[in-house]
Amino acid sequence: MKLPRAAAYATLLILAGCQSNHSMLWSSASKQASDIEWLYWFIFWICLVVFVLVIAFFAGGLAKSNVDEEEMAPVMESNEPGDRRAKVGVSIALGITVVTLFVVLALSIVTGKTTEGLTSKNPITIEVTGHQWWWELRYPNPQADLTVLSANEIHIPVGKPIVVLTASRDVIHSFWAPNIDGKRDLLPGYQSAFTFQIDKPGIYHGQCAEFCGEQHAHMGFEIVAQTMDEFQAWLNQQRKPSVQPQDAKEVHGRDVFLTHSCVLCHTIRGTDAGSRVGPDLTHVGSRRLLAATAISNAPGSLAGWITDPQRIKPGVLMPANPLAPGDLDALVTYLRSLQ
Ligand code: CUA
Repeated sequence: MKLPRAAAYATLLILAGCQSNHSMLWSSASKQASDIEWLYWFIFWICLVVFVLVIAFFAGGLAKSNVDEEEMAPVMESNEPGDRRAKVGVSIALGITVVTLFVVLALSIVTGKTTEGLTSKNPITIEVTGHQWWWELRYPNPQADLTVLSANEIHIPVGKPIVVLTASRDVIHSFWAPNIDGKRDLLPGYQSAFTFQIDKPGIYHGQCAEFCGEQHAHMGFEIVAQTMDEFQAWLNQQRKPSVQPQDAKEVHGRDVFLTHSCVLCHTIRGTDAGSRVGPDLTHVGSRRLLAATAISNAPGSLAGWITDPQRIKPGVLMPANPLAPGDLDALVTYLRSLQ
């Protein structure tokens, strides 16, 4: 009775690790991810075979042993035929182990080289800076006013190498999108680079993979892989300054933004708001998710986030903003108009 129950609990524990979007997690969208996936499964099957063999030999040994528990184990005399056979067996097993480990080492090096070896004459460059707890994005351009600033939602064209330059503003973070590539650490005071390429259009979820404080689990990002035309359209839109308020309500919303604490931390290009502490909100209305993918970009969740962000992400730098209902409504309407 006890054993089936323990087995059931163990199964539940294992299932708890599966996410509802597991099919998404297991489908690699880039050459690098499929190389890493292949190596993962290669090592997994070797480990499984070794595990099964070890357990089988162990069980076999237990079944054969007829030593009385009270008695001392007999002293092994070397050069007995059984002992010599065991020696040969152990030597063969040792040889197979060494060869297998070298094969795994060689394949790991080859996989590492191929995932690093992506190069292009004119790649797309994106600067990703980790913050507690969001991702600052910069699409640099020699012409300063064509540089795009955004947060948490990385748009890229498919079929083109993307160079990511990483840095961190505070502690160590780790950039990880399982469908795309391995984990890349973002170290404070140290810029590094890696390249990836996605061949399948889609939206891929990513997550900070290095514990970085209270809201580490809510430090997600999305990679939106689009056709080149869609990407260029997005980039051109993001390059523009914010849209002007269209009616009295949006004008009021902008005034609320500029006269309350929002302006102390955020930028909206085309207005007087130019602080770089928090995410650039020039086109915040165009983003799918908010708060580093913790909540959706819907009027209700945006209003909740503005009013009391500490309830959604305790410890986040953004303070509570107890606004009058009319002010909050106008502010939400204005922010959502920023496409
Ligand atoms: Cu950033 Cu964990």
